[in-house]
Amino acid sequence: MKPISRRRFLQDAALAASSVTIAHAALAQSTSVDAHIDIAPAETIGTIAPEIYSHFIEQLGGVVYDGVWVGEKSKIPNHKGIRQDFINAMKEIEAPVLRWPGGCFADSYDWRDGLGPADKRPNRTAFWGQQESNRYGLHEFIETCRAIGCKPYLAADIRSQEAKDFYQLVEYCNAPSGNLPSNSAMPVAPDTLAAERAANGSPDPFNVQYWGVGNESWGCGGNMTPEEYAAAFRRYTAWLPGYGKEPLKLVAVGPNGNDLDWTRRMFKALSEKGEQRDVWGLSCHYYTSGSPSKFAQGDALNFNEADHYDLLARGSVMERIITGHYAIATAQGGQKQIKLVVDEWGAWYGKGTEIGPNYNLSQQSTMRDALLTGITLDIFQRHADKVGMANLAQTINCIHSLMLAKEDKFTLTPTFHVFKMYMPHKGATAIRAEFAASSIVNPLAVGPNAISGNDYSGSGDPERKLAGLSGSASIKGKELTLTVVNPHLTQAQTTEINIRSGSITSVKGTVLAGKDVHDHNDFSNTNAVHPVAATGNQPSGGRLIHTFPPASVTTLQFTLS
Ligand code: AHR
Repeated sequence: MKPISRRRFLQDAALAASSVTIAHAALAQSTSVDAHIDIAPAETIGTIAPEIYSHFIEQLGGVVYDGVWVGEKSKIPNHKGIRQDFINAMKEIEAPVLRWPGGCFADSYDWRDGLGPADKRPNRTAFWGQQESNRYGLHEFIETCRAIGCKPYLAADIRSQEAKDFYQLVEYCNAPSGNLPSNSAMPVAPDTLAAERAANGSPDPFNVQYWGVGNESWGCGGNMTPEEYAAAFRRYTAWLPGYGKEPLKLVAVGPNGNDLDWTRRMFKALSEKGEQRDVWGLSCHYYTSGSPSKFAQGDALNFNEADHYDLLARGSVMERIITGHYAIATAQGGQKQIKLVVDEWGAWYGKGTEIGPNYNLSQQSTMRDALLTGITLDIFQRHADKVGMANLAQTINCIHSLMLAKEDKFTLTPTFHVFKMYMPHKGATAIRAEFAASSIVNPLAVGPNAISGNDYSGSGDPERKLAGLSGSASIKGKELTLTVVNPHLTQAQTTEINIRSGSITSVKGTVLAGKDVHDHNDFSNTNAVHPVAATGNQPSGGRLIHTFPPASVTTLQFTLS
């Protein structure tokens, strides 16, 4: 079998429609097709970490308060104060990991404020211009994770707290209750922080494995230079208590968007002392603004055709970020084992569609956001060998949410449906899939593309084209899953799908496509956008002709003989 070269894939994807049709005319046989997908099950990329489908909540606007936390005495159905609809939705998509408490909020957060009797907890002035009651703290967060059945991921505050606060937080979370071996001549004794945790309601340790060593240390997390951050990382992680067999998974603060300079300098400084400190993950934050020239601008609901293609084209920059930063970390940084942790990503618009006045950063989510979700998840999967985790920002009532909730009102967004449709990929082996379709010109790619994660300080080449069809494929035993995004607003893509050396015994599919790309769910119509069964042709051998509707996300599940 001829292997698919990456270069050829990229060249093909950029071909004009006419040449694609000619090049594949022989394969197309009697049916005229617009595009081709060639899948090579033998060319494996890596296991798709289920953690690519992870989540993030922060003490911000209506995310935690009202979104997640309604309180035990609320009339809204809840489990120990946690909104039941939120738990149910997270269980439905088998959420693997939840990150908390931020975000920028984490960078000035004292974890001790959220412990103990609720009426004794302090009220603090906190990030985002907020007053924080600390009603939702560490125990409430862990209970949220336990109710969902997901793993916790904590971001430690290394801007305002000392190394001692960090290692004692690890001790509070992970030290077992009861007598612990002293590993010295001293007699066995219980750990005081574990006893405090037990007195606060949890004799069982939290067993937190994922730790962010800071958050956005180049910005709200301390305005550090990469060298300063590397020094802080070395100091805060020089010693941390470990209790289980598995080492802690430490995530270092990585770039703001595509800031390659940060990653280069940070890894250089990290190894300056001559010691090789293995880092489990490198955090990357990349938001796609609704505007090509201003960060966090543009309208979530009112956008035209040019805005649509531009947003999706700039969202596709994620692929460049992954390959660029992974290459630096593994080659120059010498971190062969490292995984990228894209722990903040999503489309970020300007004000105008908040669900209420105090729901800071909440925004509506349309079919356009569902397309961006599919494009991004497919990028992660095509780089399953590099991406260890990704957390959409943020799960509820925020930038690019899966759910919106206000008091007793609740709805799932189109993005939730994409997460559900992509579930068969979790834990499967990503395989090479070559897409050939005419690309779409980005009408707004006129100047340098600002591609910083949470502001527009950096710039890069404009993203001139958007793939006419993109997606990813994976295999688990005889089950092959293909997910495909057709971003075109008016053109369906009749596509020849060819599975190399494969014979298809059955195929089923699901498709998400609104009547209009502006379609969205809201509290008055929670089901305006929902997935339906994808209908189409019968396969023949390893081949299927399938039509992807305009502005759609599709999952096809093949059973091979
Ligand atoms: O997700 C909103 C904010 O975006 C986070 O608090 C911060 O880390 C990022 O800048």
